[in-house]
Amino acid sequence: MEDKKIIIGNWKMAPKTPREAKAVFQNIRSTAGKLRNVQTVIAVPYVYLWELKKLVTGHRCVVGAQDVSFEKDDPHTGEVSAEMLKNVGVEYVIIGHSERRAKGETNSEVANKVLATVKKGLVAVVCVGESERDDDGSYTTFVKTQLSESLEGIPKRYIDKVIIAYEPVWAIGKKAKKEATTEDVLEMSIFIRKVLADMFGERKGISIPVLYGGSVNQKNVFSYINGCEIDGLLVGRASLKPSAFATILEVANGNT
Ligand code: PGA
Repeated sequence: MEDKKIIIGNWKMAPKTPREAKAVFQNIRSTAGKLRNVQTVIAVPYVYLWELKKLVTGHRCVVGAQDVSFEKDDPHTGEVSAEMLKNVGVEYVIIGHSERRAKGETNSEVANKVLATVKKGLVAVVCVGESERDDDGSYTTFVKTQLSESLEGIPKRYIDKVIIAYEPVWAIGKKAKKEATTEDVLEMSIFIRKVLADMFGERKGISIPVLYGGSVNQKNVFSYINGCEIDGLLVGRASLKPSAFATILEVANGNT
């Protein structure tokens, strides 16, 4: 496990103006910049990356991207490569978010994106998670398959550039059916570590940070951070609300 908690804000397709984006980012930075025990990453829409990157001071609060292309140099209208992200100073890229998978992104596309990302020295935040839970536990098999196919072909030497975010689809976003319990998350963080250890060997596998994401807010953050053996959080809606996000960061830092 990492010493620092990794807290990633996923802004998705928001906010609507660069002005608002700057204001929210500056607000978050003023808290995140003080916290020694937290690595904060704000994954912003591509259009804001360049401007917000200029507001980054130090290493405690940086910007990230929400997707990347696996293509290299050929013409690909609308795509953004890992090299371009690297060249604007991005270090973290969310890959395989369930909202992209819902649009048809496959595990093998995710694997290609992860490889393109880690080869450029960037950190790939790979999202996995089941849509539903069933009583016979087949969701664990689903997540295991997602992990093995989404990381297929990633050489062991790049493993220190991989983070896993467990995000059960039923607990994400406005359409969330319910919040995941700490037991739900603990069970899966242990399960995911075991799968990773089987894939990459005990030492390397266990060293991969495992985050939780899905309806994390200022009220439930304490139990997720302290009761689930996770290395951090992927936060959607609450990452656009500076005061809620500040509480999440403070809790992750161990302040409350
Ligand atoms: P949420 O989103 O925190 O708004 O549920 C999490 C995510 O989709 O990454």
